[in-house]
Amino acid sequence: MNAPTSRRILVTSALPYANGQIHLGHLVEYIQTDIFVRFQKLRGHDAVYLCADDTHGTAIMIRARAEERSERDLIAAMREDHLKDFAGFDIEFDHYGSTDSDANRRLCGEIWRSLRDKGLVVSRDVKQLFDPKAGVFLADRFVRGTCPRCKAADQYGDACEKCGATYSPADLVDPVSTLSGATPEIRSAEHLFVQLEPMQGFLREWTKNSGALDPRIANYLAGHFLGEPLRDWDISRPAPYFGFEIPDAPGHYWYVWFDAPIGYVAATDEWATARGGSWKEWWHRGAGEPAAEIHHFIGKDITYFHTLFWPAMLEAAGLALPTKVRIHGFLTVNGEKMSKSRGTFLLARTYLDHLDPACLRYYYAAKLSGNIDDIDLNLEDFAAKVNSDLVGKVVNLASRTARWLEGAGLSETYPNDGGLFAQGAVDGAEIAAAYDECDFARAMRLVMAAADRANAYVDAEQPWKLAKAGPESAERLRDVATVALNLFRQIVVYLAPVLPELATETGALVGGPIRSWEESRHPLTGVAVAPFKPLARRVEAAQLEALVAASKPATPPSAPSSPSSPSNPSSSGNASVTTDPAEPLAAEPLAPQCTIDDFTKIDLRVARILAAEEVPEAKKLLKLTVSLGGEERRTVFAGIKGFHDPAALVGRLVVVVANLAPRQMKFGLSEGMVVAASGAGATGVYLLSPDSGALPGMRLH
Ligand code: MSP
Ligand code: ZN
Repeated sequence: MNAPTSRRILVTSALPYANGQIHLGHLVEYIQTDIFVRFQKLRGHDAVYLCADDTHGTAIMIRARAEERSERDLIAAMREDHLKDFAGFDIEFDHYGSTDSDANRRLCGEIWRSLRDKGLVVSRDVKQLFDPKAGVFLADRFVRGTCPRCKAADQYGDACEKCGATYSPADLVDPVSTLSGATPEIRSAEHLFVQLEPMQGFLREWTKNSGALDPRIANYLAGHFLGEPLRDWDISRPAPYFGFEIPDAPGHYWYVWFDAPIGYVAATDEWATARGGSWKEWWHRGAGEPAAEIHHFIGKDITYFHTLFWPAMLEAAGLALPTKVRIHGFLTVNGEKMSKSRGTFLLARTYLDHLDPACLRYYYAAKLSGNIDDIDLNLEDFAAKVNSDLVGKVVNLASRTARWLEGAGLSETYPNDGGLFAQGAVDGAEIAAAYDECDFARAMRLVMAAADRANAYVDAEQPWKLAKAGPESAERLRDVATVALNLFRQIVVYLAPVLPELATETGALVGGPIRSWEESRHPLTGVAVAPFKPLARRVEAAQLEALVAASKPATPPSAPSSPSSPSNPSSSGNASVTTDPAEPLAAEPLAPQCTIDDFTKIDLRVARILAAEEVPEAKKLLKLTVSLGGEERRTVFAGIKGFHDPAALVGRLVVVVANLAPRQMKFGLSEGMVVAASGAGATGVYLLSPDSGALPGMRLH
């Protein structure tokens, strides 16, 4: 039953690789997509959320061998794990397929035929590295060696992490197979290629003018790929390979990135067929009434597959093009790349062992603005935000008013609330617009503003005093609680895409299941209120500590680990007793008193590390390039070598003395200083990180 203006919206997330477990980075995408789809459904649109496991490729083949099982056995087990993790986070697919399906094989064949018919497929011999011990051609990431450009050791087969050069694995100096340790041989094999250059005109037009891409992405593509002739795309792999054999090229298999996006169509096929429909109602141009929208949610790392290769394939096959490719950034934890040794490589399952999925869903929603910026999960900020917003503002509204209504139910007519409910209903349009643009952060801000107004109302009316005042205040008490509970339910309608569980429990508390956004428009009156059950619990520091501890490798890595990690006090709970040692302060007593004027002479700023490299001649120094925001850069030499892996520093925020007089050093000019803590008993030098939300250029006061 859809409203007359109902849209048909097909939504996908990228298909997770079957060779790894779902982690909190992946969930940035799946939670985001799930929120979007739930929102569209709540609005009455015909939305469908499709996904699948991405099962093919060398990695799965190698792992299956190592585990002495078949690939199909392995991918079936991984599928179970993935589905359990997604369900644990309330991610609700309409269908979850697999790229290793009959539907996908058939659709790959159909699209392949279109490419052949258009004359886009050519064949060429390719020199590729072959592992003679393992008996396989090596995908780029299974080869490591020395970068041919900058001579950095131990680099991947396709790109150098040090200097950014890209190359073919055959160009690596002293290559080694990571599978067997053998020295790979160069072997020649026939590969099939899809020519993309004939699609250049189409791609330029589509990337720029279709509205599918953020203009920043379109500009990036124009500057990096579309400016020059497009290289042919190597689409086949010789046996042995786990995938689909190409029907008209025996012994050759489609490369995993050919069949993976077609998995979107295959998932549509399986889902639609089961409901008596057809995938063509979604993917054929102009088919269906009204024409369907297609939204792909992806991470920035797979941009060009989805904005160049995939549209080119769809265009060649005469299928519908994506309406929107919605690209998000990467997750960092506590300001850094997720790291196993730091215990911040957080698996979905480990999280679920310790915390409520609703907390992460809310936190991500509050952070996602629909752009490509990376998002940071700062664990302290996470606890603070969830406790203050979800527990302190939203759930608190119900927990301190619902119980007054248990017997009597809501007032028979809606009391005068000074326009609060009406204002909330008006806000609904703006909140909906924010959701529709995937600016969930804005939607959450608007909702929390409504919660603030509602709490101010309760604070002013003081229902607990009315309750004490006796029978003559009973009617007033009922009215105040009726207002508060209605404002609460209105807020929960707006939060339902993010917090489906809270929506369900609220429906059970009052008013029945929340099925439509429209329910935010009219207050409820005269209905029963069920006994109140707790709807959310605070996030405790101890839970986060347990999560991090459970995410650390069983045997600690050999890297120096500090005994007194700051976010990890040895006592649990919130007590303020401290067992911190006295040595650091004793060894370096406080400096003489200074005035505030003395202090303000020193200009401390938040800065982002853009580049970090070792200074080979200096025992202690790293050369850092830091940004103070905009175009403002500084080169700083910091005495932290040996304590920090330069690669892991890139991207993180630090504090610098920004107005320190430049100093000429042996290795170059140092234009500032990065502040760090060290002292007696310390085994390291500890950089400072601001709370999440701080930006380069902000001053410390
Ligand atoms: N199998 C491919 C996608 C094929 S789509 C036709 C793939 N799989 S993946 O498992 O590596 O990633 C799945 C999605 O999760 C991608 O969109 C990827 O960008 C996203 N993320 C994986 N790690 C991530 C973070 N650390 N942070 C945010 N998103 C991340 O790519
Ligand atoms: Zn290099």
